[in-house]
Parts: sequence; structure tokens; C-alpha cells
Amino acid sequence: MASGALALKVLVIGSGGREHTLAWKIAQDPRVERVYAAPGSDGMAAVAESTGIGVGDLEALADFAAAQEIALTVVGPEAPLAAGIVDLFRERGLRIFGPDREGAQLESSKAFTKEILAEAGVPTAAYETFTEVEPAREFARHLGAPLVVKADGLAAGKGVVICATVEEADSAIESMLRDGRFGEASRRIVIEEFLDGEEASFMALTDGKHVLALASSQDHKAAFDGDKGPNTGGMGAYSPAPVISDERYSEVIETVIEPTVAALARRGIDYRGVLYAGLMIHEGRAKVLEYNVRFGDPECQPIMVRLRSSLVDLIEAAIDGRLGEVSAEWDEGSAVCVVMASGGYPGDYSKGEVITGIEQAAGLEGVEVFHAGTKRDEQGRWLSSGGRVLGVTATGADVREAVERAYGAVGAIDWNDVHYRGDIGHRAVAREKEAS
Ligand code: AMP
Ligand code: GLY
Repeated sequence: MASGALALKVLVIGSGGREHTLAWKIAQDPRVERVYAAPGSDGMAAVAESTGIGVGDLEALADFAAAQEIALTVVGPEAPLAAGIVDLFRERGLRIFGPDREGAQLESSKAFTKEILAEAGVPTAAYETFTEVEPAREFARHLGAPLVVKADGLAAGKGVVICATVEEADSAIESMLRDGRFGEASRRIVIEEFLDGEEASFMALTDGKHVLALASSQDHKAAFDGDKGPNTGGMGAYSPAPVISDERYSEVIETVIEPTVAALARRGIDYRGVLYAGLMIHEGRAKVLEYNVRFGDPECQPIMVRLRSSLVDLIEAAIDGRLGEVSAEWDEGSAVCVVMASGGYPGDYSKGEVITGIEQAAGLEGVEVFHAGTKRDEQGRWLSSGGRVLGVTATGADVREAVERAYGAVGAIDWNDVHYRGDIGHRAVAREKEAS
């Protein structure tokens, strides 16, 4: 078994900012000899060797892990989890961190999530599930606007439509159920009440019985300042999220995370992985908007730079059912990640733009630059190669200092048509100002 052994080889699955961050953290572990990434990227090369194996090629990933005697595999994105990578690795006796296919339904099926939440007695928006247009329209009328129409399955973060009027709900319902807008993912839909409030991300590790809550965080999903514009994968994040006070932190563990883990266990699901609750906080109470079954991206970036403990130790404790015996230590301050994206993202954007200033930015105090979508050319220049390009992350004694440092580093980096939000952390900074 891997526990206690030296010279571990670890495989990180994925190639984005979250995976660069995980590989960066894991590579610092004195017990880790080598980190591989699948497929990996030029941006991760300093901390993880790229294997080039795609995240969907489950058999090839298992073959690689077996041949290289990988002690631990950590999965970044949800797709391989939903496709059953953990089931396959477990069958082949390979150590892997993440839920199996059944557990991954918490992200791959919104209807499944709602069932689990109901069984667990966890607060969430009132809802119903539909496969037919007419009853769905009727329910939308009954709920009244505003309301939310969601494709049941994975739709690359685009399957949620917030409807200001019942007519908007009608067209969302028809486009999903009748016109198959998200294909198989929208053959079934969830219609739910609109929840007002402030969102927060709450991640915990679990071994299926015990939970170890990670530091709280908050994501900024909209493309533009002031939370305007289309939803993206996330334009920035910070940790901790002041909206999650100490009292609320314990309350979320007791009223959300623990009952959910217990409900999964009652169904016989052996869930050893990350449980990520997307929360809406209103008048001090937390309700669950969604579950994800992996680390958030970009929330992982500020959280990992604050984690003092060994991530490998925590993950191994989760795999071995010892999570009740370990704790995590955190940097007392704050961390902020500003995502630098290609202009046009989440729509069309150009690639291959020459990026300048990364090394200079990375040399600034408290700053780490995580790569989400970059490539290196033969001359050693960095080129943009994706929508989200860099996650410029900084720590500070408080959120103001972290924000200042992160934007100082962002200012040192440039390329043609770069886009980033100028207000990452604004809610936390406002709270900090109020308090002082
Ligand atoms: P989801 O993929 O379910 O988390 O939805 C994506 C985003 O849509 C969330 O981060 C929220 O901003 C928003 N959202 C989802 N459900 C609701 C709801 N019931 N009320 C208000 N906003 C919601
Ligand atoms: N940043 C949101 C997510 O990872 O789902």
C-alpha cells in the first residue's frame, strides 16, 4: 500500500488550471518522487510530466497507472468520474481518489441530486422533474417567475436557464425537451424555484463516512465586472469566503455535507472523493444549488495555496477510510485567483497569441501563476491555447492584500485581446472594509 511509502508516483488526470494547481501542490510533498499528468500541458511541465493520454481514454489511463506503478491517481474533471474511471481502477486494484460512477451522478444528474437531498433532508430549492413539455409548462405556471429550468445531465455548465418570466421558461422547456438543445442531457429537466442570496463554494473530502471540510471559497461565474454577461467556467475565486462565518461553516458541515454523505452511504455508494456543494446563502441560511464531485476550478487555486498540510496525506486518509483521524492546517490569510482569459470567452476567441510577462509576474511576492490554456512554441514563448488561459493567484494577510498582489501580477502579463475581471474579491473586500 502507498501509505507511509517513500518515492511515490502520482498521476493527475486533466490539463487545466485546477490540475496544474493539484500537481503543483502534490509535487511539493517530500514523499512524492514524480508527478505525471494526463494529458498534461506545457504549462504544467515544471511540476508534472505530460503523458498525452486523453481524459476520456479510461483503459489507456489504467494501463499507464499499472505499468508505471502509480501509487495514487487524482482526477481533476468530472467527465472521467461520470464515465466510471474509479470503477475501472478499483476493479484493477489501482488506487484512485474520486467517487465511482454511481456517486458521480451527484454531478451528472440533477434529478439524482434532488433525490439525495430530499432523502438527506438538506435544504434546497423546491422542484419537480419532467420529461414532457405540457406538465413542465404547467408546473412553471404554478411556481411563477422568476424560476430556473435545468437540463438534467452534464451540459458543460450551460444547462441552467434563469427565467425572469413564465414565457422565458416556456421557451427553455421547449428547447430542452422538444428540440433536444443539450441532446441526451436535456431529455429530462428539473424546474425549480429561484433562490435569492449570495453564492459560496463549499468543498469537503470524504471517505464515505467521515468528512473533512476544506476552506470555504467563492467563485465569480459571470464574464464581466459586476457579475454581468454570460456564465463562464469561473473568472476568479477567493478563499476564505467571509459569507461563510465560523458558525455557518459548522452548520454547513452538519446540515448539508454530513447528511448527504450518510444518504449516499445508505444507498450503498462508496464515495471517497471531493464533495463540492454550490450553496446559496440567504438570510443566514444555506441551501444547496448543486453538487459537483471534484475540486472547483478556479476555487482549487486559492484553496491549495492556503493549504499547509500534505494533500497526499489527506487524500490517502480518504481512500483508506481514516479521514476521521486527520485534520487540515490552513494559512490564516486570504488567497485570490484572477483568471486571465482570451477575449470573447465563453464564446469564440482566438488562440496562439504570444503572452508576455509570466515569469516576471510569477516572481512577485506571494504569487503563483497557474496555467489553464497555454502552449510553448519552439522559441520558448508562451502562447494562449484556450478560453481560460492563466489563473494568477496570490496570498495575503487579508483579502485586500491578496487582491492587490494578484492584480499587480496580472498587470505584468499581457497578450493581444486578453480579458479579465477587475473586481475579483469585491464582496469580501467590501465586507472587510465594513468590519474595519
Ligand atoms: P448549477 O449548475 O445548478 O449550479 O447552476 C449554475 C448557476 O445558476 C449557479 O451557480 C447559480 O448562479 C444559478 N442557479 C442555479 N440554480 C439556481 C436557483 N434555484 N436560484 C438561483 N440561481 C440559481
Ligand atoms: N468554478 C465552478 C466549478 O468548478 O464548477
